[in-house]
Amino acid sequence: MVSLSVDIAGIHLRNPTMLASGVLGISGKLLRKVAMAGAGAVVTKSISLHPRSGYLNPTIVKVDCGFINAMGLPNPGVDYFVKEVAIAKEGGAPVIGSVVGEQVEEFVEVALKLEKAGIDALELNVSCPHARAGLIGQSPELTYQIVKAVKGAVNIPVFVKLTPNVTDITEIAKVAVDAGADAITAINTVKAMYINIEIGKPVLNNVFGGLSGPAIKPIAVRCVYEIYRAVNVPIVGVGGICKWQDAVEFFMAGASAVQIGSGIAKGLSIFREITKGLEDFLEKSGYKRISDIVGLAHKV
Ligand code: FUM
Repeated sequence: MVSLSVDIAGIHLRNPTMLASGVLGISGKLLRKVAMAGAGAVVTKSISLHPRSGYLNPTIVKVDCGFINAMGLPNPGVDYFVKEVAIAKEGGAPVIGSVVGEQVEEFVEVALKLEKAGIDALELNVSCPHARAGLIGQSPELTYQIVKAVKGAVNIPVFVKLTPNVTDITEIAKVAVDAGADAITAINTVKAMYINIEIGKPVLNNVFGGLSGPAIKPIAVRCVYEIYRAVNVPIVGVGGICKWQDAVEFFMAGASAVQIGSGIAKGLSIFREITKGLEDFLEKSGYKRISDIVGLAHKV
């Protein structure tokens, strides 16, 4: 009998799949639904101190290899969102609060409010590829300051979600861990754009967006592999995971859990499909638990 449960930074997950931030995470009811569909944990949409209406449409476009989105971090603000946490938790899976802000104080205030509302862990979004808030994750100094301040303020685990839009992702991972990060989530979307050749204009209102989906999976796997060699905290892999084989690749690169974002387009059954595939794979290959394959690709 194999076990799919994993412990990440003190959080127990019944299986290693999570809902990625930004997808269905805007209300307690939706988060509860995803947890009940089998996700091991759910991550909220990034929550800011004040409500954000986001960018004007079009905010998402489907491309051959995935999606490009520039939503503009729309969310109702933390004071509204706190009441959603209890509803989300009814789903029976840990709820991780994604936090976004532009200044240290905003991150700390949102983090404290979410902690008080009963959230299980935090994921600091310093990596949105098309918002000012996302520039933080390209700066070692700013990343350090924010992680350090949030870690000094809360008593729940803090994950930090990194951007691939940097020269060396391990540099940012290392400063995040030096500042106290309990886990690293890698990666956020890849900065991209799409031009409609009929009208000769960029499609997204914001011009630039973040590419997600199968096209970024090899980039994400490479980032996880590099981060695994650089730091000593658990890594949550995310980027283009659509089937169990993708998840196995992330585990072998060094991830201890994975998040599903664009893959949700296949339906919520994706969580059970991936966990079933993982279970069969471990069984068939003679492994007992997920940790048996974490980082396996480094052992060659
Ligand atoms: O536009 C957005 O809301 C995306 C956020 C992100 O990629 O972090």
